[in-house]
Amino acid sequence: MEFIRLATGASMPLLGFGTYLIKDLAVCERAVGDALEAGYRLIDTAQFYGNEEAVGRAIRHSGVPRGELFVTTKLWISDMSEEKAAPAFGRSLERLGMDYVDLYLLHHPFGDVYGAWRAAQRFFRDGRARAIGVSNFYADRVTDLALNNEIRPHVDQLETHPYHQRREMEPTLAEYGTAHQAWGPFSQGKTDLLENPVLKAIGEKHGKTTAQVCLRWLTQRGVCALPKSTHKARIRENFQIFDFRLSASDMAAIALLDTGKPAGMPHTDPNNIKRIYAM
Ligand SMILES: NC(=O)c1ccc[n+]([C@@H]2O[C@H](COP(=O)([O-])OP(=O)(O)OC[C@H]3O[C@@H](n4cnc5c(N)ncnc54)[C@H](OP(=O)(O)O)[C@@H]3O)[C@@H](O)[C@H]2O)c1
Repeated sequence: MEFIRLATGASMPLLGFGTYLIKDLAVCERAVGDALEAGYRLIDTAQFYGNEEAVGRAIRHSGVPRGELFVTTKLWISDMSEEKAAPAFGRSLERLGMDYVDLYLLHHPFGDVYGAWRAAQRFFRDGRARAIGVSNFYADRVTDLALNNEIRPHVDQLETHPYHQRREMEPTLAEYGTAHQAWGPFSQGKTDLLENPVLKAIGEKHGKTTAQVCLRWLTQRGVCALPKSTHKARIRENFQIFDFRLSASDMAAIALLDTGKPAGMPHTDPNNIKRIYAM
């Protein structure tokens, strides 16, 4: 495993396990158990995913000491205010069966994010969130939040994959010491990414799958990748990425695949904002 050092001084694994859309709690518990057995030590969940309880159970049953794990959860927009964030965070901890998380994120840049951030800063100071951050905040929103608060986001979790590389985020994230996490590293299956001939050819050269190339490309950039799968073989496949390196020419070829567009709708699109509020 490779790690990135957060501004807090903590080490965050560069590869983690995603749990979005694993709504069946038994399936989620089994998949997280498989991931922990395969070696993943970062588990990404959210209040919105409805599976924090299953994540907590899988962790307890795994026997992996809590101190070796990095657990992330997120505050949903229905609770995005100073008053609502505290009980929502308490309920997340309760469902997880934990007295702290390693990372607490504001899930989307909507609602009273400034109030919610004041609350998140308190959770960080009282030790119940070892790091705090944001998700789906673009450079303008990260900058404004950072300029108006003592604690800058330690992490920004963004859709990032070879078709949407987010290079435009790099100067802002570097300026505020914010680590980059990639959600949807396979573009959530919404594009032909895993069939892309350039990625396939690079994978064949290294004896690796296209999925492994996507994850290695992220981690070589210092971006934390969060693949999700409910299939044990894929969970294991997605973890086998630290035994090869992409060459400079591989990285240059992948750089050319950037479309600059998300697989779905950007967070600046009014229709997407309405869609997320309706979720
Ligand atoms: N902050 C946010 O707003 C946000 C948004 C979305 C996601 N996330 C986080 O990021 C994680 C990852 O994103 P995601 O789950 O949306 O999408 P993703 O990881 O890009 O893609 C998941 C899809 O890829 C398939 N897959 C996984 N490994 C594969 C492999 N080796 N070969 C072929 N197909 C493979 C999965 O199918 P199977 O499961 O059938 O194997 C699933 O359909 C989430 O689970 C969640 O934790 C955060």
